[in-house]
Amino acid sequence: MCGIFAYLNYLTPRSRQEILELLLNGLKRLEYRGYDSTGLAIDDPDVGDESHNIIIVRRTGKVKVLEDAVAEICSTEAYKEPITTHIGIAHTRWATHGPPSETNSHPQSSDIDNSFVVVHNGIITNYKDIKKLLEKRGYVFESETDTEVIAKLIHHLWRQHPTYSFRELVEQAILQLEGAFAIACKSKHFPGECVASRRGTPLLVGIKSKTRLSIDQIPIFYAKKQRAHGKTLPAEVSLPPRYDDTPAEYQPLEGKEVEYFFASDASAIIEHTDRVIYLEDDDVAAVRDGALSIHRLKKCLDDPHAREITTLKMEIQQIMKGNYDSFMLKEIFEQPESVVNTMRGRMFFETRTVVLGGIKEFIPEIKRCRRLILIACGTSYHSAIATRQLLEELTELPVVVELASDFMDRHTPIFRDDVCFFISQSGETADSLIALRYCKQRGALIVGITNTVGSSICRESHCGVHINAGPEIGVASTKAYTSQFISLVMFALVMSEDRLSLQPRRLEIIHGLEILADQIRKVLQLNSKVQELAKDLYLHKSLLIMGRGYNFATCLEGALKVKELTYMHSEGILAGELKHGPIALVDDEMPVLMVVMRDPVYMKCMNALQQVTARNGRPIILCEEGDEDTKSFSSRFLEIPRTVDCLQGILTVIPLQLLSYHIAVLRGCDVDCPRNLAKSVTVE
Ligand code: F6R
Repeated sequence: MCGIFAYLNYLTPRSRQEILELLLNGLKRLEYRGYDSTGLAIDDPDVGDESHNIIIVRRTGKVKVLEDAVAEICSTEAYKEPITTHIGIAHTRWATHGPPSETNSHPQSSDIDNSFVVVHNGIITNYKDIKKLLEKRGYVFESETDTEVIAKLIHHLWRQHPTYSFRELVEQAILQLEGAFAIACKSKHFPGECVASRRGTPLLVGIKSKTRLSIDQIPIFYAKKQRAHGKTLPAEVSLPPRYDDTPAEYQPLEGKEVEYFFASDASAIIEHTDRVIYLEDDDVAAVRDGALSIHRLKKCLDDPHAREITTLKMEIQQIMKGNYDSFMLKEIFEQPESVVNTMRGRMFFETRTVVLGGIKEFIPEIKRCRRLILIACGTSYHSAIATRQLLEELTELPVVVELASDFMDRHTPIFRDDVCFFISQSGETADSLIALRYCKQRGALIVGITNTVGSSICRESHCGVHINAGPEIGVASTKAYTSQFISLVMFALVMSEDRLSLQPRRLEIIHGLEILADQIRKVLQLNSKVQELAKDLYLHKSLLIMGRGYNFATCLEGALKVKELTYMHSEGILAGELKHGPIALVDDEMPVLMVVMRDPVYMKCMNALQQVTARNGRPIILCEEGDEDTKSFSSRFLEIPRTVDCLQGILTVIPLQLLSYHIAVLRGCDVDCPRNLAKSVTVE
């Protein structure tokens, strides 16, 4: 949901061409977050370095379009000259306020002179009030975005308080903002300085210096006088809050040459440096004279005194496509390894034991709880559906599964003895995060199941499990789903460790997990067969996917993949509900895919299969390897290796991931960047 990237070099000579390349490359890494339009801003060399005039280039469409525009516009000799200190900001947009257009693209500017330019991810909910106020003061708005108010508000404050530092101006501006934001700001009046801040959406600072950093923390400076957020109107802004500044603020680094990277996520930073700081809500990070400082307006009792510089554990290869045509295909084929990574250090197959370090200490408390509530969106929600039955069986607790948005719409009652799981690949999904805060406020124990270390959900949970699937770049979630699934299965195993009567069941599941990676490899060998099936299906308007029991989640997830990637209608149908309505859709034209495995609901699935064939339906069947009876109902079938019932959904979902991929390719769709979508949905 919009990607922000900013780069600042201090005493490190770089030509503007190099800087542009760096910015464009950063945007390419973040493109999965939104690809409606893109833009960047750097100092314009064609009007002379002294003026610090800012040139903004923006284009509708993907980064490639911006790249071509930049190559054309920024081509003079001056772009090749090295400059020692410079700041460039860039943005890739997922439209929220105003349709995708050049004018609505970021950076947004304060005035005709581009005095202040801003890139923003999030939504400013009170932007209309601020806009009215600024319009009264003579500001003319060009775009329909909420972001333009930020740039103009900073400009307004600067006119009122010309002695303020850049950081103080941004601080005063964010005091007025309500909603969610991560911003990076550049100004012609403060050349070589960058100010960035966040509230509710992610932002990281990467630090690269020639000499190894001698520090592993950046001190935080707090305002002496506190102010309430959003209470002060711009016209009334008076003095900035005062800080406990000390000279240490400007000497955080050893040596002088340093480069800073501000980005919405680590994938845009890792190729430059592995040393990062995850900013927290309301941190204002500013670089001046090459030194980074972090200021906050409010100090709470247990707030830390510093932000840690952490080392990223990511490898650059993990965010490259390698030999695959798309990230999605790569990620589907990575599943034999990603599921092993999820289990590494947790499943001990020799001793048949399971340890989840991140929640170990909380297990006694969880065992005493009233109920388990699994809250998520989209694919992550499907992983909760997929494992609900097993969780009920092995924990013997009531298990409730909730879509985060609906959960909040209903103001669902939550109690202190509830345990709430938040499942999220990105760890930043606004709906899930809002639900998390709601549950936390009511005293529930919060367990995060995320793929993104350092994400908001991860940091705001009391305990949790990192699914360790590795970076997922394809917008459609694949390997994160199977890893979420396994994480929840492992949790069920931990909860039932001391239940004697459940040991045989636990042992069969543990064995199933042990051989899972090899079975996934086998399923992936179906790829060319799935591609052939896709050829039969890609011109159709709809695809029904039916199943029940442990495989119902596979139907929902498969249908979601087909919808989002191919723009073809698809519906996951609980086979038990077929006769209550959906059967009316069945005829000899409508494609129907049925998941019929030899599990406790096999006979019931067979009933549904017969109902479909009795209406001249021509089903495609997903069945167990060697199941001749079931296969005999159709000439089109895929055989899946047999595993324990509660793990079967991991194997049955993979052919559907592949099917959606192949249909999308045949329909000419952009697999990694489906239309209208973004990877991380940081707005409600
Ligand atoms: C579908 C997909 C989305 C996400 C949903 C939640 O392929 O990726 O449905 O699953 O937006 O995202 P996370 O898991 O990041 O909270």
